[in-house]
Parts: sequence; structure tokens; C-alpha cells
Amino acid sequence: MPLNPPLTDWPGRTAWLVGASTGIGRATASLLHARGARVVVSARNAPALAEFVAAHPGSIGLPLDVTDRAAVAAAAAELVTTRGAIDLVLYCAGHYKPMRATDFDLDEALRHVQVNQVGALHVIAAVLPRLLAQGGGHLSLVASVAGYRGLPNSTAYGPTKAALINLAETLYLDLRPLGIGVSVINPGFVETPLTAQNSFTMPAMISPEQAALAIARGWAAGQFEIDFPKRFTLWLKALRHLPDALYFRAIRRVTGL
Ligand SMILES: NC(=O)c1ccc[n+]([C@@H]2O[C@H](COP(=O)([O-])OP(=O)(O)OC[C@H]3O[C@@H](n4cnc5c(N)ncnc54)[C@H](OP(=O)(O)O)[C@@H]3O)[C@@H](O)[C@H]2O)c1
Repeated sequence: MPLNPPLTDWPGRTAWLVGASTGIGRATASLLHARGARVVVSARNAPALAEFVAAHPGSIGLPLDVTDRAAVAAAAAELVTTRGAIDLVLYCAGHYKPMRATDFDLDEALRHVQVNQVGALHVIAAVLPRLLAQGGGHLSLVASVAGYRGLPNSTAYGPTKAALINLAETLYLDLRPLGIGVSVINPGFVETPLTAQNSFTMPAMISPEQAALAIARGWAAGQFEIDFPKRFTLWLKALRHLPDALYFRAIRRVTGL
């Protein structure tokens, strides 16, 4: 039994993808457009959004900074005015800088909270009244396997992703009985500008297009958690259940840190 109403019928559906100027968000927007969805893309980089719109006829660009509460609310209001029903909202905006506790940078840590967590709250607050009035639609948050348990280099990033996983579970409990689908997307390593900063070897790396296909498959199957690639995420899920001492030892051994 799927946990969410399967999302398969894209023609004419309105999908708002926030954090879609590059990477996973852009590839997913492109895929949904190819499947007939009425795609609305947001991020800060207005020229990149304009380029997306030019390449994807019928799509709309709504530039915004997710940390700007008023701008997010205004974009959502414009979306509802121009498009009416919202069928899917994907929160894909993300900020990542590798950080170890020995290099702790408070401004950077707070920046992660603002973009990854507070930005998601801004978007949720802006679309929830509409979704509740519709009694339908789907809200999808892109978190990360880095939110499962503590990982090296993730001092600033990991806790924001753990918060999103918890938030998605909480939203699911409240919204699913009201007809609204909720899912959390936990990618492994995807080759994007975000991971280009990593100097360590990233196992099981996939392309943004492969990530977009995995996300669409997860929505079509009505999954709550959409994690990929399985050859990496299943391994991390197994580690997640280890007792603390074994978990810390395994992570130290694997990462060499
Ligand atoms: N790549 C991976 O291996 C991986 C793994 C797990 C999870 N994730 C998550 O997947 C999501 C997408 O990341 P990605 O890998 O595709 O990286 P990316 O290509 O760098 O995409 C990040 C997106 O977020 C947008 N963004 C960043 N700050 C923003 C802000 N203040 N306001 C509005 N938009 C903002 C960026 O657009 P602008 O710069 O134009 O604003 C861009 O569209 C992120 O949440 C990331 O944490 C990625």
C-alpha cells in the first residue's frame, strides 16, 4: 500500500520547484516538463531561471531568495494567481560547505540553518493554506542521507538535513489524513555544483538526471522516503541502526578520519 497518492499523471499539473537553477532541482524540473507538467522554477539566479524557461516552453521563472520570507510569500501568491491549484511543491534549495568542528564557523553554520531549514519553513508557510484549501497536492522536501546520523565534514549541513527528515515525518502525520501527500528525498552523492566542493572520494556518485528519474519513480510509487542510489543508501541505513560505539568506529574506519 503506497504511503502517498502516486504522482504519475503529469500533463497539466502545476509543479513548483524551489532551488531549480542548477543540479537536482533543475534536472527534476526538466523531467517534469518533458512529462507535461506546468513547471514553475525558483532560485536566486534569475538569468539561469530565464535560460531554463527559454529552453522549456510554457514554464515560468519566479526568482527569489528562500531566506526572504516576504519574497517567498509573494512568489507563492503569484503562483496561485497565475496557476490556480498547486499539485507539487519540491523544496530543493540547499547550502553546503564542508565543515569540521575544529574549523567551526558560526556564520556559515547559521547560513546552513537559514537556507536549508528556515527557507523550507518559509515555503511551507506560503503554500500550506492553498494545499489545505485544496485538500490535495504534494509537498516534497529534499533532505540528505547526511541527516541520518552524524558524519564527518557535516557539522553545519547534517543537522539541517536531520531537521528536514523529522519535519517531513511530522508533516506527513498531520497532512496525509487531509489528502495532502508528503515525501522526503534523501539522495546519496549527486554530481552538482554542491558536491564539486568535496575533495574526498564520493562513492556511488550519480548524475542529476539519474537523481531526477529516481525522484520521479519514488513519487510514482507513492513512497514517503525516496532515497537513492540504493547501493549507497541501503548501506548507510544499515549503519544507522548500529549501536553508537560500533557506528562511530565504522565511520572512522570508512572515512579514515
Ligand atoms: N548533490 C548531492 O550529492 C546531494 C546529496 C544530498 C542532498 N542534496 C540536496 O539536494 C538539494 C539540491 O542540491 P544540488 O546538489 O542540486 O546542488 P546545487 O546544484 O548547488 O543546487 C542548489 C539549489 O539551491 C538554490 N539555492 C541555494 N541557496 C538559495 C537561496 N538562498 N534561495 C533560493 N535558492 C537557493 C540554488 O540556486 P541559486 O544559487 O540560483 O539561488 C540551486 O538552485 C540541496 O538541498 C542539497 O542539500 C544534494
